[in-house]
Formats: sequence, structure tokens, C-alpha cells
Amino acid sequence: MKRQLMIAACAALPLCVALSSQAQPQARPEQAIKYRQSVMTLLGSHFGRLGGMAQGRIPFDASVAADNAQLVAMLSKLPFNSFGPGTDKGLPHRAKPEVWSEAGKFKEAADAFQAEIPKLEAAGKSGDLAQIKAAVGAVGKTCKACHDTFQAEK
Ligand code: HEC
Repeated sequence: MKRQLMIAACAALPLCVALSSQAQPQARPEQAIKYRQSVMTLLGSHFGRLGGMAQGRIPFDASVAADNAQLVAMLSKLPFNSFGPGTDKGLPHRAKPEVWSEAGKFKEAADAFQAEIPKLEAAGKSGDLAQIKAAVGAVGKTCKACHDTFQAEK
């Protein structure tokens, strides 16, 4: 199951290299923008499944929850190297200018998010829905906190 999810993620997007080696900042701004948006899209998808189970919109399945928590943990490492200087231009995107003008705060928001990830992974492994709900709530707050400040409206 884990392997299948991994293959699905790799087939859908050019993530295999990133997942199998250290994520490197991309050479061109367009690549960096596409990369971070792709990772965020996958985060939305895999975290969304956990959210669905936490809220009872999707039937709870402990093994699927564990897989998705693990994928979110992997993906959580990838986007933030792709907001480097010069990546505010090149393609349409929704990162606000504050990502660059308040880079320290942006990093704090990213760190706050990453700090919650081990709990999500542990909750996924535990197979305990109550733990998963708590961890999904805590991680979700850090996604929202960053988006409220740093992501432009559609
Ligand atoms: C530290 C800041 C930060 C955190 C934490 C963060 N995001 Fe984002 N996210 C952004 C920014 C900035 C963008 C806009 C990127 C762009 O357009 O280049 C974005 C874009 C997105 C998008 C839209 C992607 C697209 O282009 O269509 C989704 C979906 C998303 N994030 C989901 C999530 C989820 C789910 C989490 C938490 C599990 C999360 N993000 C955590 C900053 C963050």
C-alpha cells in the first residue's frame, strides 16, 4: 500500500528525485514555482484525506490514515526551499510579497508546521482515531496560520 501510494505520487508529479534524494533548490524560478505548487497540491490531497477521516466525511481506515500521514511527513520537507530569492516572478502564483519581505516570519511559520509533523506521523502509526483527530487539528492550524499571512486569495 505504501509503495503503491509512493508510485502514484511519483507518476503524477516529478517528485521521485526529490523524494529519493535531498531536495535541492531549483535552478530556474519557473521550476521552483511549479515545484512548490505541486508539493502543496499533494499536501492538500493527502492531508485532505486525513482531514476527511478526522471529520467523519471519509470512513476511517487505519492503514490508509497511516499511509497518508507518512506521505504528509515526506511532503512537509519539500516546499520551503523553493521560495528562494527571485522566485516571486516567473509564473503566476499565490505567494504574497511578505514571503520574501518577512522571510524570518515565513520560516517561523514553516518551522511551526514541521514541528507538528512527528505527532501526525506517530498518530498515523498508532491507528487511534482520537490521536489522529488531535494531530490533524494541530497541523491544520499551522497550514492555515501560514496561508492567512502568506498566501494570496484566489
Ligand atoms: C509556511 C507556510 C505554509 C505552510 C505551513 C503551508 N502552506 Fe500551503 N501554501 C503556502 C503558500 C505561500 C502557497 C502559495 C504558493 C504559490 O502559489 O507559489 C501555498 C499553496 C497551497 C496550496 C495551493 C497549491 C496550488 O498552487 O494550487 C495548497 C492546496 C496548500 N498550500 C495546502 C497546504 C496544506 C494542506 C498545508 C498543511 C498540511 C500547507 N499548505 C502548509 C504556504 C504554506
